Amino acid sequence: MNLQQDRIRELVERRQSAKLGGGQNRIDAQHQKGKLTARERISLLLDEGSFEEFDMFMQHRCTNFGMDAQHFDGDGVVCGQGTIDGRLVYVFAQDFTVSGGSLSKTMSEKICKVMDLAMRNGAPCIGLNDSGGARIQEGVDALAGYGEIFERNILASGVIPQISGIFGPCAGGAVYSPALTDFTLMINNSSYMYLTGPAVVKSVIGETVNHEELGGASVHASKSGVAHFAAENEEEGIATIKQLLSYLPQNNMEETPRVETSDPVSRVDDALNEIIPDNPNKGYDMYRVIGGIVDDGKFFEVHKAFAKNIIVGFARMNGRSVGIVANQPNVLAGVLDINASRKAARFVRFCDAFNIPLVTLVDVPGFLCGTQQEYGAIITNGAKLLYAYGEATVPKVTVTLRKSYGGAHIVMSCKQLRGDINYAWPSANIAVMGAEGAVEVLYGKELKAADPAIRSELAEEKKKEYNDLFCNPYQAAQKGYIEDIIEPRNTRFRVIRALESLSGKRQELPAKKHDNLPL
Ligand code: HXC
Repeated sequence: MNLQQDRIRELVERRQSAKLGGGQNRIDAQHQKGKLTARERISLLLDEGSFEEFDMFMQHRCTNFGMDAQHFDGDGVVCGQGTIDGRLVYVFAQDFTVSGGSLSKTMSEKICKVMDLAMRNGAPCIGLNDSGGARIQEGVDALAGYGEIFERNILASGVIPQISGIFGPCAGGAVYSPALTDFTLMINNSSYMYLTGPAVVKSVIGETVNHEELGGASVHASKSGVAHFAAENEEEGIATIKQLLSYLPQNNMEETPRVETSDPVSRVDDALNEIIPDNPNKGYDMYRVIGGIVDDGKFFEVHKAFAKNIIVGFARMNGRSVGIVANQPNVLAGVLDINASRKAARFVRFCDAFNIPLVTLVDVPGFLCGTQQEYGAIITNGAKLLYAYGEATVPKVTVTLRKSYGGAHIVMSCKQLRGDINYAWPSANIAVMGAEGAVEVLYGKELKAADPAIRSELAEEKKKEYNDLFCNPYQAAQKGYIEDIIEPRNTRFRVIRALESLSGKRQELPAKKHDNLPL
């Protein structure tokens, strides 16, 4: 064997050793917890054979607490590029087998390198987190490393899609990198996110709580809204990330990929002509409407378990991605509350940043009232959604199915918020409020003074008068606030035609440093 062959053999051996991360025992321990390793996650995520690894031989430079005697090639993160469905992505996966995936300065340099490459080359960046947080032995260097990552998350926001998978612990300030990215996915019963763990919570505020209840996937996917997706296991989580990417462009300068469909544009859905109940107080399932109008009935929902009174997610219409925002009359009558407003506002802003047209399906009785909502700042939170729609310059097509009352009417992509094409079904009621409330305000005193024998008859008469005047879409149509009243069964092709006519839309915002949306 000559010298060159010796060197090649050394390379192969060093690669093999680096691939073992913290060693076989720690890999076994990871598997025993039911978790995959960083490399296994990457190989599930990327197209076979597409992974190009960077910085496999980088090592930490810490000498504190005996760390100079503990080195692992690559340190606690696996980084590189690859493809998903043939499209370039950058990825980093924290390796729990090396010091619990805790973040060293070296690791942050590796992560920042792929983030910089993703930005420079206009491709999504996916981070798979599984880490004990800042590497304690490195002190402020580890904190500086987080700071470098956060700054890049912020600069990349709205330029390239950023997706975070939480596949193990994510604690302390480390949670802020996922929070700065566009989408966060967690795994049920094996991942958790919180600022401080149960022990600190107990000692500081005396509350007894376990990991899952404090920051598990179910909590963040349903209560806090921190997680957009909760998967049953890691395989499902990775498949969800891939599916999500299929709806997104590579960066803010590109269009979304077109996916061929055999679903005809002209398909009508007769059942939609019968979906609105006669009783205005009765709900119906908005998922049925969405399924009836999008390609092949396929809807990829975001924030499925959080604020279920509003539905947001991606679908395709004639092969192109759209963002769907729809009130859900089956949950809290589709009312807008704090969480629904926050959820939809974030989604609308994402779509607008990444050239994804918005299709809004409206059936909203108004904003939720009461002290709980007011103390929680429904005013500011509702304004977030208003702001998001008002600033969005992507094509906006709105269909009002039934109720569209008051401030909520304006918020839900009305004409005056630069809605491009606004349609209504014949069942639409576009008004300041419903008949019940309106009659109370306008005739409350009169009704109180009326003979009790005729009071309810009089109230019904006034409600009928109000309903006849306002509870239809014709007032809005007469004033040009909606473009047309459409038959429900035709919604699919009317919306697709509208979207196609808007495909060349150009609209600017006034020059400014940045906006000041109501946070
Ligand atoms: C250095 C760490 C580490 C850390 C874990 N390890 N966390 N090393 N710095 N932050 C090491 C352990 O010493 C151990 O090393 C190995 O990783 C595996 O950890 P275990 O405890 O054996 O694993 P497990 O029982 O599964 O528990 C995992 C854990 C726990 C829940 C993450 O390790 C833990 O509580 N770690 C500390 C979490 C924390 O408080 N981090 C700081 C958060 S504050 P060996 O050699 O034995 O295998 C923060 C600030 C960020 O991060 C600020 C950003 C702005």
